Amino acid sequence: MVTLVENPLRVGLQQERTPEPLILVIFGASGDLTQRKLIPAIYDLKKERRIPPETTIVGVARRDWSHEYFREQMREGVEEFGSGIDSEDLWSNFAEGLHYCSGDMDKPESYQKLKAFLSELDGRRGTRGNRVFYLSVSPKFFAEGIKQLGAAGMIDDPIHTRIVIEKPFGKDLGSAKTLNQVVQKVCKEEQIYRIDHYLGKETVQNLLVFRFANAIFEPLWNRQFVDHVQITVGETVGVEDRAGYYDTSGALRDMVQNHLMQLFCLTAMEPPNSLDADSIRTEKVKVLQATRLADTNNLDLSAIRGQYKAGWMKGKPVPGYREESGVNPNSTTPTFVALKLLCDNWRWKGVPFYLRTGKRLPKKVTEISIHFREVPLLIFQSAAQQASPNILAMRIQPNEGISLRFEAKMPGPELRTRSVDMDFSYGSSFGMATADAYNRLLLDCMLGDQTLFTRGDEVEEAWRVVTPALSTWDAPADPNLVPQYEAGTWEPSEAEFLINRDGRRWRRL
Ligand code: BG6
Repeated sequence: MVTLVENPLRVGLQQERTPEPLILVIFGASGDLTQRKLIPAIYDLKKERRIPPETTIVGVARRDWSHEYFREQMREGVEEFGSGIDSEDLWSNFAEGLHYCSGDMDKPESYQKLKAFLSELDGRRGTRGNRVFYLSVSPKFFAEGIKQLGAAGMIDDPIHTRIVIEKPFGKDLGSAKTLNQVVQKVCKEEQIYRIDHYLGKETVQNLLVFRFANAIFEPLWNRQFVDHVQITVGETVGVEDRAGYYDTSGALRDMVQNHLMQLFCLTAMEPPNSLDADSIRTEKVKVLQATRLADTNNLDLSAIRGQYKAGWMKGKPVPGYREESGVNPNSTTPTFVALKLLCDNWRWKGVPFYLRTGKRLPKKVTEISIHFREVPLLIFQSAAQQASPNILAMRIQPNEGISLRFEAKMPGPELRTRSVDMDFSYGSSFGMATADAYNRLLLDCMLGDQTLFTRGDEVEEAWRVVTPALSTWDAPADPNLVPQYEAGTWEPSEAEFLINRDGRRWRRL
């Protein structure tokens, strides 16, 4: 339990600010992300008075919807997936700013029509030519949409226009480089917001505060004291109705290259000189540049893939990945990945970082654990008990918090030790739930703060790290060679071996 002490010096990535009035143009407005995440997040920002009343949203998609129909759909989204509507007046005021403009991503005339509509809205709503273009579309349309926006002269102005690109940014190093070239040709890096929603999570941002606003942890945060680090992102869901996307993507592209790499960067990076976006992003790039798979000659020693087979989740039978609707019955796409990374720099040389993520695991949990070295000499041998090394566990979700495991003497006449946890929980210390990542990311993008968005070179470096595994796993293979794990269990035995052969084991979460 941690008692909250008020600190007069606010520690945060930025002070509270309000964005300029602007139009947020959402391409792919008829899709799930808009209804489930984006609009509920903007509505929350409106409720909290973090955005100005002039804020206007224009949804763009192929379907022939009216403004009214779009508003109804978005209302359903806020009610079902967001924090709900408690004031009809507030909703009506918000809905007045919601508009829809049908259009095709690949037709120049759609952009002309949109451009004219946006200028008309500028006049009506006082949005002064400020625009954020959000590409919430299938990745195959990213390059086309960006080129068309450039050709229509809609993102020429680096001060007033920005572009948000959803993940995945490319499907490998080559395609990420090509996409970077396309986007950097039509606009400046300062206008580009590559989204990774993990960076919007409160607990992920807290990694920086924890490391760099406390004096006691940083001196231990290196190869002298740390034995190894584990990063786990477990999910209980299977492929759901996303087989079309997922079967061509898989866990390495869907989770590791972006979300897990970001967690890795924030754990391993050097202290930035300041909190400005480029200082932080430069440190992330530097740590990625020093990072590689532990053994690229023998991939089995540093990268393991797996696929869930039929099993049980919460007492109910669930199908295996290859039996899921829309999945190729001979698919070799990994639904689980475990990696052993090494970071060749002064701080981390020789300290392995074990990363794992998978679908249909027993628990939804994201955790980073720092495993410290054993004490140099155990003087409690007579206690006939092996003391366990200290572990600092940062729980990203759920039960957000941090715990430190250390040894304590058990009460009683004998000298026996046991591991105990000192625990900080967000819920009990701050008494409020953490906001959805999209609230923060949308606000930052409207404010022009790129700190929580991925820079072009950073995306490329993250792809580079996983390339040896990608290129091996992308090659046609006998599906029987892909390790299987039963749905509802933690990992295939090959992934256990990856860490056990180093004399370590995965944390049971
Ligand atoms: C998305 C992936 O980026 O992240 C999904 O495409 C995954 O496959 C999701 O389920 C996990 O996000 P969170 O925030 O629920 O951990």
